[in-house]
Amino acid sequence: MSCLNGTDCKEPVKRHLAMGILVLMAVIFLVLSVWSFMGSRTQAVPDAVQYGSQDAVAGKRVFQAYNCMGCHTIVGNGAYFGPDLTKTYLHVGPAWLAAFLPSAGGWPTAAAVQVQLQNTVVQQESGVADMAAYQERYPGAHGRITRRGGHATLMPNLPLDADEVAGLIAFLKYTSEMNNEGWPPKPKVDGVALLQARRGMPTGPVSMGGTPVVAMTAASSASPGASASEDPVALGAKLTQDLGCMACHAKDQKRVIGPGWGGLYGSQTTLADGSTVEVDDAYLIQAIRRPDAQIVAGYPPGTMPSYDALLNEHDMNAILAYLHSLQGDKK
Ligand code: HEC
Ligand code: HEC
Repeated sequence: MSCLNGTDCKEPVKRHLAMGILVLMAVIFLVLSVWSFMGSRTQAVPDAVQYGSQDAVAGKRVFQAYNCMGCHTIVGNGAYFGPDLTKTYLHVGPAWLAAFLPSAGGWPTAAAVQVQLQNTVVQQESGVADMAAYQERYPGAHGRITRRGGHATLMPNLPLDADEVAGLIAFLKYTSEMNNEGWPPKPKVDGVALLQARRGMPTGPVSMGGTPVVAMTAASSASPGASASEDPVALGAKLTQDLGCMACHAKDQKRVIGPGWGGLYGSQTTLADGSTVEVDDAYLIQAIRRPDAQIVAGYPPGTMPSYDALLNEHDMNAILAYLHSLQGDKK
């Protein structure tokens, strides 16, 4: 073959060049294809994410059974009544979730989260064992406790049992571990600064330094209301607020997550094993220090946390005095 004017077209050279470029492109294509799959090799898989005895697959079923998606979004799907939950675990940690989920109608107080931290599974999963360290590690929990702890939420109480709570935490842990390529984006305004701005307070980062956190947990630990009042009934009422009891119990006879307290003292209560016991001080102390030793009929075990380590005798007596005072109170 010849080109115009009989000059040499260098046909074989051109053919080789074309082949060479083709091979180079094929290599680039293969390398990029393999590379694009590398990321998914480290992607979290739900049946490998565990929390306690539950995995994220079990948790997803609970999430569906209670229709959490009817109010919340997760990875962009769902409804917008409640906040997005994709990264919640990362911000608030397992102890906060364990305190919140069974009694979602009230925001957990520091004491309610501290109660959960007594549990070894919760400690292991949190990576810390004491409240000050926990709040430093999970600023989201610290912020929620200080801004909202003890107040009512817009989320309904759901009748979750202990396994369902663990499953949900496993599921939220999984969605937190998912590589979402940066989704959801970080809000441009941080919620706390916004709140402070609205209240006309100076804005700026929330102090996460040791002092305020430690001061707060110290004030809410063993004796949250010691100086509140000398009247044991009033102190007992305050303690049951501070310790998060009222997220699960009503002071009248209403059933919330646990039985109502109105008229409880001095009555007869039926236990899950069918036996009947008289509600005296010994029974009440046991119910508060070791809730799972005797389960009230009609309630799931493992829902109420043990307050054994948080209550000294003085505070326990105040709570008993308060419970005695609620004689058939049907307010
Ligand atoms: C009827 C609607 C509704 C349902 C159903 C619902 N939630 Fe909520 N949830 C809310 C609302 C509203 C809030 C925010 C409460 C507030 O700001 O007072 C919330 C808050 C939360 C929070 C705290 C989020 C944060 O950033 O502080 C978590 C965690 C949560 N819900 C988990 C769940 C799970 C898990 C389920 C299903 C088992 C569920 N919710 C079902 C409405 C709902
Ligand atoms: C997360 C929810 C929850 C919290 C928080 C909670 N409880 Fe309970 N409580 C329950 C449930 C559920 C039962 C019934 C099952 C059982 O016997 O453990 C119960 C049972 C009881 C009983 C026995 C009631 C009866 O009818 O015999 C007493 C007393 C009691 N709780 C006191 C307290 C006190 C005091 C606090 C706070 C220091 C508290 N609870 C915090 C859920 C909770």
